[in-house]
Amino acid sequence: MKFEITPNVHWVGKIDWELRKFHGEEYSTHRGTSYNAYLVRDEKIALIDTVWKPFAREFVENLSKEIDLNKIDYIIANHAEMDHSGALPELMRHIPDKPVYCTANGVKSLKGHYHQNWNFQVVKTGDKLSLGKKELVFVEAMMLHWPDSMMSYLTGDAILFSNDAFGQHIASEHMFNDLVVQSELFEEATKYYANILTPFSPLVTKKINEVVALNLPLSAICPSHGVIWRDNPLQIAQKYLQWAADYQENQITIIYDTMWDGTRMLAEHIAKGIKQADDRVTVKLYNISRSDINDVVTEVFKSKAILLGSPTINKGILNAMAALIDMIAGLRFKNKKSAAFGCYGWSGESVKILTDRLAGAGFEVISDGLKSLWQPGGEELAQAFAFGKEFAGKV
Ligand code: FEO
Repeated sequence: MKFEITPNVHWVGKIDWELRKFHGEEYSTHRGTSYNAYLVRDEKIALIDTVWKPFAREFVENLSKEIDLNKIDYIIANHAEMDHSGALPELMRHIPDKPVYCTANGVKSLKGHYHQNWNFQVVKTGDKLSLGKKELVFVEAMMLHWPDSMMSYLTGDAILFSNDAFGQHIASEHMFNDLVVQSELFEEATKYYANILTPFSPLVTKKINEVVALNLPLSAICPSHGVIWRDNPLQIAQKYLQWAADYQENQITIIYDTMWDGTRMLAEHIAKGIKQADDRVTVKLYNISRSDINDVVTEVFKSKAILLGSPTINKGILNAMAALIDMIAGLRFKNKKSAAFGCYGWSGESVKILTDRLAGAGFEVISDGLKSLWQPGGEELAQAFAFGKEFAGKV
């Protein structure tokens, strides 16, 4: 399968309708994904990125129907992560001497992954590769999201091949942003930013401003996952600038786990208290052990405050909550308030553990938290209601 972006630029990647977990088991992909590779024809011919290894043979077979592989002059590896470089070994088996353009860190990563001494050509920001009438201009994008990441800009067609940046995990027969359901597109783009790019937000701002300052014409942004931004392509860059600025909506998210429903009852009464204090705020509740962790992380990203609840077990917290707090600590959210709650029967450490971990993860803890002994009754539920009300007043 291929499709045209401009008469001399074609998508030659793979749409992966089946994928439900990405990065091993770390990232849920409810809508599948695509691995986008692009073939650019001018007097010289360049291939930008490849696909994940399971599709390597299919990719090379399809590519060879599209073009005699020996006619490819340049291979551009914008990013060495295996979802984009995974078909390189298969491709290079056919054309072993062709130059592979990547950053210095790209050479390290590609050698580290595949242990091959391909004909690497190291590029840095501002370097140009003439294709004849048009040029590829390279822009390093270190830590967006790997040390080796870079983007390539095609003059004339005015296309930015942005690799992971601006991507979304979506499989679609309509690979352009103006053809897909907008709510789905932005839901996936937000989830992608929240779960992958949040830790690098200061770099996102810097890099986008750097690229925008170049004042280059832009007809499309072609990311390495999901749909191509051809309708108002800068809209996604503007969204990224918003998301990178410690984004929050008027939302409080309550995330809990529960053994015998006590902590769930606290969560629900806290929510009622919040609503009474502020009926305009969006309040969402998630039982983390019954929810998709990446979807919950996306809700954390959108929140101005979160509450985490777990009962105490073995002087600790329940394991789904432990996984969540590990994940959000790594994502280094900023400008979010928080507090903890939970039931206990014997020792009751959970609230302190959650409070300490929230503080350690960069959340502003605005309350000592709510501990409730045994199963909450009327009095304890009234306390939870008051706790929610007080919390909303401080947010
Ligand atoms: Fe889509 Fe960083 O790989």
